[in-house]
Amino acid sequence: MKPVRLAILGLGTVGAGVLQLLQENAKEIKRRTGREIQITHVGTRRPRPDLNLEGIQQSANLLEIVRQPDVDVVIELIGGLSPAKEIFLEAIKHGKQVVTANKALLAECGNELFASADQHTVQIAYEAAVAGGIPIIKVMREGLAANRIEWLAGIINGTGNFILTEMRDKARPFADVLKEAQELGYAEADPTFDVEGIDAAHKLTLLASIAFGIPLQFDKVYTEGISKITAQDVQYAEELGFCIKHLGIARRAPKGIELRVHPTLIPKEQPLASINGVQNAVSVKASAVGQTMYSGPGAGGGPTASAVVADIIDIVRDISYTEDGSGTIPQLAFESLEDINILSREEFTTGYYLRVNVDDRTGVLANITTILSNCGISIDAILQQPRLKNRVPIVIMTDPIVESKMDEAISQIQALPATHGEVMRIRLESLDS
Ligand code: HSE
Repeated sequence: MKPVRLAILGLGTVGAGVLQLLQENAKEIKRRTGREIQITHVGTRRPRPDLNLEGIQQSANLLEIVRQPDVDVVIELIGGLSPAKEIFLEAIKHGKQVVTANKALLAECGNELFASADQHTVQIAYEAAVAGGIPIIKVMREGLAANRIEWLAGIINGTGNFILTEMRDKARPFADVLKEAQELGYAEADPTFDVEGIDAAHKLTLLASIAFGIPLQFDKVYTEGISKITAQDVQYAEELGFCIKHLGIARRAPKGIELRVHPTLIPKEQPLASINGVQNAVSVKASAVGQTMYSGPGAGGGPTASAVVADIIDIVRDISYTEDGSGTIPQLAFESLEDINILSREEFTTGYYLRVNVDDRTGVLANITTILSNCGISIDAILQQPRLKNRVPIVIMTDPIVESKMDEAISQIQALPATHGEVMRIRLESLDS
């Protein structure tokens, strides 16, 4: 059989990693695919004398590369929405299979891209787009395929988890840790994507689509970042037996699906609580198997390249076993997608951690608990810290309640004359059922 020919677009941390991995493990990969893989083109703007590009054509004209007849599979590693989208569509139009790590593009324009891929009978493979080195797409699509997924909760941004871990363990300043994450190749080109939860929301969009068989709906993911979390909250959470993680959560609720990314208190004994540094993990509650968790490195050149090359190997196997040489695996199975309502933030149901700084006066705590009780909110635990300059921080943990009720309670607590500063709200998940 003739070799399968690849074009790698983008020779950044991941692109260079993919090239090196394919070269270093060529023999092993051939054993696994039964077929040789040949890199015919790389798309790059700058010379890379550090890489072995012998016999490979180099060009900065990516649109031209994806039209070439000596390309079977396009590896899109340039990232971003434009010009990646145009290049993607052109590649598909020319019958190329596409492997990508571009979660932003798939989450925001995936419905259109998958429809086009279906029309041209080619595959889009994107294992590397979610949780780097963890094969979570394959787990959801293959390993758990027999199950109805109840919920999934994941630490799906390595940079954010790295920052939270370093701040907690080493009391390092936020900016300093972020800079290190950038140097290590973990962070997005725009690091607010990591810190504000946008990157995690992209990944959650992809996971939820497979988990629930719904279209990609990035615009409906409620997203909150980690920048407001203080060292004080981390410490109070610890005292109450919890740790704070930035989670992406997708959950089937009675009236629809919750899609949300936000800082979350989880019990310290939950497996997700022990996921530190750049590690990612996804816990899945599935109907037949119960709760499982998948963990591993979530960012960086090596783990992401490993996922890209695994997708290349899958595609090589698929196209080698189909008669006409084209991939035929349906991607989003458009005819069978479900139109399930995505819930708004006000309809979410979770527990809460509230921190309120109040005047040290008689009756203030009673006022707060009365407000909560009038809104139908049940208190699980209260922690009152010693006075800090005439102010008393009160920390309250509640049982699960619909968020509109909590909004009502918080606005009333906020309006009390004894309340100072903003009421801090962190959602809380026990993840035990
Ligand atoms: N910036 C991302 C992260 C890279 O930190 O997880 C991997 O998608």
